[in-house]
Amino acid sequence: MWELAEAFNALIVFMEHRYEGESIPSPNITDCMAYSSSVQALADYANFIERHLFRQGTDTVLARPVIAFGGSYGGMLTAWMRMKYPSIITGGIAASAPIWGFPLNFPNKIDAAFQVIQMSLDKHYPPTEDSEEENYCSTNLLASFPLIQYLASEGATGRNMLSEVFRLCSPLQEKDASDLISWVQTPWFDLAEGSFPYPSSYIPFALTHNENAKLPAWPLQSACWVQSRLAKDLGVDFSGDLSVVKYNITYGKSGLVLGVDWNKITVIGAPETPEQMYDAASLLDEVRDAVAIWYNITNDLLCYDLVPAPNMGHNDAVDNFFGLRSITGLSAVSRNLASDAEKACFEQMSKGSWEALCCNEEMNLIITDAGGLGRDFLWPPSHPRGTTSYSDVLRNRGGDLAGTVCNDLHGYFGFPRDPPDSWSTAYDIIYGGRRIQSHSNIIFSNGMLDPWSAAGVYVADPTKNADHISDVLVPGLSLQKINDRDLVALIMDYGGHHTDLMFSSPLDPPSISKAREIEKEYIAKWVDQFWSKT
Ligand SMILES: *[C@@H]1O[C@H](CO)[C@@H](O)[C@H](O)[C@H]1NC(C)=O
Ligand SMILES: *[C@@H]1O[C@H](CO)[C@@H](O)[C@H](O)[C@H]1NC(C)=O
Ligand SMILES: *[C@@H]1O[C@H](CO)[C@@H](O)[C@H](O)[C@H]1NC(C)=O
Repeated sequence: MWELAEAFNALIVFMEHRYEGESIPSPNITDCMAYSSSVQALADYANFIERHLFRQGTDTVLARPVIAFGGSYGGMLTAWMRMKYPSIITGGIAASAPIWGFPLNFPNKIDAAFQVIQMSLDKHYPPTEDSEEENYCSTNLLASFPLIQYLASEGATGRNMLSEVFRLCSPLQEKDASDLISWVQTPWFDLAEGSFPYPSSYIPFALTHNENAKLPAWPLQSACWVQSRLAKDLGVDFSGDLSVVKYNITYGKSGLVLGVDWNKITVIGAPETPEQMYDAASLLDEVRDAVAIWYNITNDLLCYDLVPAPNMGHNDAVDNFFGLRSITGLSAVSRNLASDAEKACFEQMSKGSWEALCCNEEMNLIITDAGGLGRDFLWPPSHPRGTTSYSDVLRNRGGDLAGTVCNDLHGYFGFPRDPPDSWSTAYDIIYGGRRIQSHSNIIFSNGMLDPWSAAGVYVADPTKNADHISDVLVPGLSLQKINDRDLVALIMDYGGHHTDLMFSSPLDPPSISKAREIEKEYIAKWVDQFWSKT
């Protein structure tokens, strides 16, 4: 945006989303967070642009082309902004915008995000090295989780081994095996999102608030190939069928053979000596070194706590995870909090907009719901055998998604009291879901290393869809015309989470630079069209 603004002699305006920072509609509203929603946020933006950029005095409205930009949720807002306010927004660059991640868009795409991570793991160093070397990263990871479960159940010896291998600050208890497994699994989503061609603090910053804590270039590949030997053949052997999660795993020459049948393991062969047990556990040294890229990002940790964010004590991690922070605009009010309702509301407001808008609009991005169903590197499966659709997921949960975060028992937060809209039907009605053909002037850019691309706007197999023309512009970049009114999808093979919105860099692969050029060409065209029609 900074580079484009200069080229177009344009003004850049950043508008703070409501319920973030100091943009609190009113600290006293009795409905508390009821107005935290994408619909209201879009209306704020439209209102601001109209009043402050278009209007001069009371009777003059200036004609000005406005291009919206955004990545991630901001990309969703960008696309929706052009769809909802075409008189105000001339065109939009919606980067890594998962607007097709809702239940009604693709009811069977319940584990699509993790399938993307699986594909990203299976790639080699993009995009310079086209190595033929066999890549074992994802299968070694897959083998590590039953191994952790096995060791955790092998008495004090096994658990001590785990505590030692993973350098845990406090000794692992048997009941914590699943915590250790999720701790190992957590970083891979973030590493995949953070697939930028240069070191970047962008993804970890949200959790660490530390600009100096940077992930290396191509962190997912770095974790497997540079920080650890996880991509190498470590003697792990699978027999059986990975796609139905029924297989046996042999751990080198250690004598350990585990049988995996969905979420159950059986010990088929056990190590006979402590040395053999250590030999089996040696796979986990590589796993630890791989996830250190995330958890030891500041290179100064002496030991690990099982917390979701890098380099944090437990409370810090939780607070930052949910965005707890003080809000300047509320501080005066907070001193005189009268009732429990006000206290509860303040607490909720201090978490920012996201949680509340997910609850208010029932934003169910189902593509991240499931994992371990035989199509990715995770174990154990997150759902019972036979789960294939969102209907199954809901049935497994015993009905709806009224989860704990959206619980508004006392009605303090202003969340809807109606039955939950588990299918995100409101979104489908308000924004049209996949029925976007009547819209125009939006570029949807998708980075194929980024798990959110699973919910992005593009056609995975254009050969099966005669309406879509897919052109490969340069290796690693293709363009799809969704209609002939400049609804366009860009597919960047080596793109992370909205890489195209980052400053240009000499380290960018040609496909990323080319994607930015295309975006610039379309913006120029839209601006010209705007003036010629005005
Ligand atoms: C909020 O309530 C307090 C106390 O009732 C009052 O002094 C203040 O003016 C109110 N603020 C707004 C923005 O309504
Ligand atoms: C796993 O090993 C056991 C014992 O050798 C064998 O009976 C079983 O068929 C194997 N399972 C698979 C899925 O290969
Ligand atoms: C974190 O990184 C530093 C520097 O490489 C290293 O000395 C330390 O042992 C690491 N911490 C853990 C828990 O592995």
